[in-house]
Amino acid sequence: MPKFFVTTPIYYVNDAPHIGHAYTTILADVLARFHRIAGDEVFFLTGLDEHGQKVKQAAQKRGLKPQAHCDDLAPRFLNLWQKLDIRFDDFIRTTEERHKKIVQLVLQKVHDAGDIYVDEYEGWYSVAEERFISQSEYTSGQFRDVKKLKEKNYFFKMGKYQQQLIDYLESHPDFIEPEHRKNEMLGFLRQPLSDLCISRPKARMDWGIEIPFDRDYVTYVWFDALVNYISVPGYGSDDAKFKKWWPAQVHLIGKDILTTHSIYWTTILFSLGLSLPKTIFAHGWWLIGQTKMSKSLGNVVNPLDLIDQYGADAVRYYLMREMVLGSDANFTLDSFNKCFNSDLANDFGNLLNRVSGLIAKNHGGRIPGAGLLTAVEEDIKKQANALPGKVKDLVNAFEVQEAVVAVIEFVRVLNKYMEAQAPWKLARTDMKAAERVLYTAAEGLRIASIMLAPVMPQKIATVLDILGAVGSKPVWGQLKAGTALKTHPPLFPRIELDDLKKSSV
Ligand code: MSP
Repeated sequence: MPKFFVTTPIYYVNDAPHIGHAYTTILADVLARFHRIAGDEVFFLTGLDEHGQKVKQAAQKRGLKPQAHCDDLAPRFLNLWQKLDIRFDDFIRTTEERHKKIVQLVLQKVHDAGDIYVDEYEGWYSVAEERFISQSEYTSGQFRDVKKLKEKNYFFKMGKYQQQLIDYLESHPDFIEPEHRKNEMLGFLRQPLSDLCISRPKARMDWGIEIPFDRDYVTYVWFDALVNYISVPGYGSDDAKFKKWWPAQVHLIGKDILTTHSIYWTTILFSLGLSLPKTIFAHGWWLIGQTKMSKSLGNVVNPLDLIDQYGADAVRYYLMREMVLGSDANFTLDSFNKCFNSDLANDFGNLLNRVSGLIAKNHGGRIPGAGLLTAVEEDIKKQANALPGKVKDLVNAFEVQEAVVAVIEFVRVLNKYMEAQAPWKLARTDMKAAERVLYTAAEGLRIASIMLAPVMPQKIATVLDILGAVGSKPVWGQLKAGTALKTHPPLFPRIELDDLKKSSV
């Protein structure tokens, strides 16, 4: 059975999650659900990055011990994922023992392989980035909270793997996607790659995993966090599990953490002699106006408010529908409103309302027989049968936005067909034709719905229940004539602009 191992970044627990975090997690969930439907065995991993300076500072601000702070914030993430219907297979917190011991094992192995050395280093240290930055990064002026620091530390011989990494990137075109991100990394690798400082003296920063060969130091948070991708699927603890799942099919990340993944992580894997994930996919940012949504800028959108007002599925739909994977997208309530009213209320919801309303009114509430299809219906049937393959190809190419658009465009074709055929008029003159049209529209809607199930699991489960088609496959003809339709309130009632003005979102 094909397997699909997908990961999200593990999020810092310095504050409650915002829409940017929700986005990557929903994206992973949508991919995982598509693959489960395709019959693949799926392992979807997400979790929390609980060590390091940022978390320590956040805890200090609240007057809490770091662990107490993490224990307090972790449920906020879990609660949000539950509200958003995120079906992960494992959820790692880096303060868990199962992770800590593997980070120590990895450090020991890399050390034993001769890839770690101790050195006294003096350089510019960015508190915000939690790392030493190069002279050119310093002069770029792009870093906040920079200070000169001189310290004895442990270093990972990252530079040693520079050529191996360049060769790998060049010979594996789908390793870093989208392509322009791969080129960005190749550009970065034109400069000599320096070694990576992987320790922090406890005297300065003690919130981390102790270095196994020097108890005065803790592990640099990135060296700790990245290891979650192998500690969870069994590296060093469960060989059979690890062999089954590693390498991952895809690490989904935001473009802000491309370097740590494509350079730090890959060279660590080289040192361990492990295969690299098949793809690291870096998506763009959700922007508010022209700037990135981020806690420090104080412009975050709280997903809980949106879920309360629009429902989890509408939030999932909007995020998948609006962001072309790889590019930035602008978050505005106006575009949310437009997307909801146009795709969900007018196109999708309306089709269901019309079909079920007319079947109730003119056909005794039971799905009519299709009869003999004319050329028009044959064309719709062809489009419906082609849709799953088309969507699958797009999803496999990480074109999730395009996949959603392909489905909603088919829904539009069905609505146009309904308007052109007017089965409400046909019911007075040609009952057989009215039945054929309603069967065709209902069957098309059923197939379109199944293709949207990974994006809107709850609403689509409702639609399939209304149609009496739970568990059916996206192949033409599975809708059974004679099935009684369930009555239902409108699935996506239009948002009136007045409601929005009143809202606090
Ligand atoms: N803890 C590290 C990741 C370690 S992975 C081994 C980290 N955490 S984070 O909390 O800052 O979250 C980073 C991720 O959240 C980003 O890479 C991205 O996936 C997501 N996003 C955070 N803000 C975002 C936007 N404004 N827009 C889109 N995604 C963003 O970095």
